[in-house]
Amino acid sequence: MINTKPVAVVIGATSKWQSDGRNTRLAHGRDVDDAELPVTARWGVGGAIAQKFAREGFHVVLTTRTAKNAAALDGAIREQGGACSIVELDLASADSIAGAFARVRESVGDPQVVVLNAGYLEGRDLPPEQELLEHIPLEMFETAQNIASRGPFLVAKAVMPAMRERGWGRVVAITSVAVRQPIPNLILSNTARAGVTGFLKTLALEVAADGVTVNSVQPGTHATDRLVGLGADPDELAAGVAAGTIGDPDDFGAVCAFLCSTHARFVTGVALPVDGGAYRGLQ
Ligand SMILES: NC(=O)c1ccc[n+]([C@@H]2O[C@H](COP(=O)([O-])OP(=O)(O)OC[C@H]3O[C@@H](n4cnc5c(N)ncnc54)[C@H](OP(=O)(O)O)[C@@H]3O)[C@@H](O)[C@H]2O)c1
Repeated sequence: MINTKPVAVVIGATSKWQSDGRNTRLAHGRDVDDAELPVTARWGVGGAIAQKFAREGFHVVLTTRTAKNAAALDGAIREQGGACSIVELDLASADSIAGAFARVRESVGDPQVVVLNAGYLEGRDLPPEQELLEHIPLEMFETAQNIASRGPFLVAKAVMPAMRERGWGRVVAITSVAVRQPIPNLILSNTARAGVTGFLKTLALEVAADGVTVNSVQPGTHATDRLVGLGADPDELAAGVAAGTIGDPDDFGAVCAFLCSTHARFVTGVALPVDGGAYRGLQ
C-alpha cells in the first residue's frame, strides 16, 4: 500500500461488546441493532476518535485483538472517504505489540500519532461490589497492568525513536478522572491508571525537546458499552455531572485531534478531564 497521509494508530479502536464488528449492546444494557446509534458513537470512544482522525486527513490504523471486530468501523471510515487499515495487537503481549508496529511501519509508515484507548474489563470481570482486595487474584491485577500500564509503556518504546528522530509526534492516552479522585471499588483501574499517568508525565518531559508531546484525556462518565460491564445506570450517573447528562463517545474525537494538532505544540504532560464538570476539585 502506498500511503501519503500521516499515520494515526488508535489502540483498542473498537468497543467492548463486539460481535462480527457490530455493537450488540447499548450503555443502558438493551440489545441493539447498532444502526440505531449515530455512526460516530457506534464503536465507543476509540471508534469516535478513529473517525475524527480520518476526517482530519490521517491514515488511521485500527488495532483490535480480533480483526473482524474492527471490520464495520473500517467500512464506515472508508464510506466516509477516509483511509484506514486494521492491525491485530494484544497489549498483554510484548511480541504482539512489537509485531503490530512492525506491520504498521511496513504497510503505511511510522505513526505520527498514537492514541491509547483500550479498556481492560476482559480477564478481570468482577462485579463492582467484589472488586475488593480480598477477591482479586494476582492474574486480574496483572491483566489490568498489562492493558492500562505495561502495554502503553511497550507501545511508547515502539513508537518513540521514530517520533523523536522526525522531531514531531503525539501520544494521547485515554485514562479516567479516577486518576484525580479514585472511584470506590475500582481498585484495579484506579491503580493502573494512576501508574500510567506518572509514566506519561515523566515521558512527556523526556521527549518534549524533540517536538513530541504526551498527554492524557480523562473520561468521566460516557454512554459506552463499558458502562454496561460495570452495571451502572446512566440516569443515576448523570445526577453527579454538572452538565446534567453523561457524555458520549464523540466527546473525545475533537479533544484528541486538538491535542495532536500543531495548535497544541506547547501542551504536554497534561491530564485533561473531559467529564462535563463531574470532578469538582481545583487541580
Ligand atoms: N465509558 C466511560 O464512561 C469511561 C470512563 C472512564 C474511563 N474510560 C476509558 O476510556 C477508554 C474508552 O472507553 P470504551 O468504553 O470505548 O473502551 P472499551 O470498550 O472498554 O475498550 C476498547 C477496546 O479495547 C480493546 N482491548 C481490550 N483488551 C485489550 C488488550 N489486551 N489488547 C488490546 N486491546 C484490548 C477491546 O477491543 P478488541 O476486543 O477488539 O480487542 C475493546 O473493545 C477505555 O480505556 C475506558 O477504560 C471510559
